[in-house]
Amino acid sequence: MTKRISLTRYLVEQQRVDGHIPAQLRLLLEVVARACKSISQAVNKGDLGGVLGVATTENVQGEMQKQLDIIANEVLIEANEWGGHLAAMASEEMEGIYVVPNRYPQGEYLLLFDPLDGSSNIDVNVSIGTIFSVLKMPEDDRGVDEGDFLQPGHRQVAAGYCVYGPQTTLVLTVGDGVAMFTLDREQGSFVLTRENVQIPPDTQEFAINMSNMRHWDEPVKRYVDECLAGKEGPRGKDFNMRWVASMVADVHRILTRGGVFLYPWDKREPDKPGKLRLMYEANPMGWLIEQAGGAATNGRERILDIQPAKLHERVSVILGSKNEVERATRYHTGL
Ligand code: AHG
Ligand code: MN
Ligand code: MN
Repeated sequence: MTKRISLTRYLVEQQRVDGHIPAQLRLLLEVVARACKSISQAVNKGDLGGVLGVATTENVQGEMQKQLDIIANEVLIEANEWGGHLAAMASEEMEGIYVVPNRYPQGEYLLLFDPLDGSSNIDVNVSIGTIFSVLKMPEDDRGVDEGDFLQPGHRQVAAGYCVYGPQTTLVLTVGDGVAMFTLDREQGSFVLTRENVQIPPDTQEFAINMSNMRHWDEPVKRYVDECLAGKEGPRGKDFNMRWVASMVADVHRILTRGGVFLYPWDKREPDKPGKLRLMYEANPMGWLIEQAGGAATNGRERILDIQPAKLHERVSVILGSKNEVERATRYHTGL
């Protein structure tokens, strides 16, 4: 029987053997994993738990919140506020930052999350997930404010997601490659099932919401048209298409077998750079993809180099197999 390595053991070894992560970060990641387990249980109950359907509230994004968006947000706040490893949290579901209350010790990390990604899929039993990103508080010792979160993605110290699908799988990087942990429901623990994940540099599978085609910019139209032209076209090979409409599920497929994912700017809301949010969707997913040998750009520059101006700012996203992302980016920059 192959040796089972739990998430706890993997993190202890990343701390002790590789000196990669300090104890406080290890503790934080253990707590986030436990929160994801609780969210997975709530998601799995579905109608039996009375958690499906919309809440009566709208979030800062102007989107109707689903009950599970709110439940997942509360689970992450309650699990992480008392441990002493965080100074504050930021969430897709909260307008402002959540500073750790004075009754708890403050730590040196900042946790950002999309508590439930793919909300449009909750009620139709399609994979959804939680995305998280960890930054360090800037050195100076004044109190924490929103500006402390506005760091480019290359400053992340940990990033990951938990996908609630046929399996519940936690995918994580602390800057030493990408590891995947599958939840063993009988033991209630995450078990290492893949490490040093590598994305093939080429692919024949693209992911984009084709219903937006008439709104795309020329470079995206050219890239997708060439994929659709297949063997007879300039690419000389046929392509397959997937679109789950849960970024976690599309990214998990790409980490598992390669592919390219695009959610570009389009003419529907020209003043918005894209639909996806930089701080808690594009940055964590971009770092995971890069750690697995892929690439992630906004069509012009590396996602992880973007200097954020606002907590909930949006960004155009092209990520996945390196050679495809570089091609699609070249079509934008003309280089
Ligand atoms: P969220 O549910 O957190 O708002 O995220 C949904 C995002 C992302 O997961 C997915 O790739 C994209 O929205 C799908 O958008 P469309 O429904 O426009 O295809
Ligand atoms: Mn999302
Ligand atoms: Mn969400």
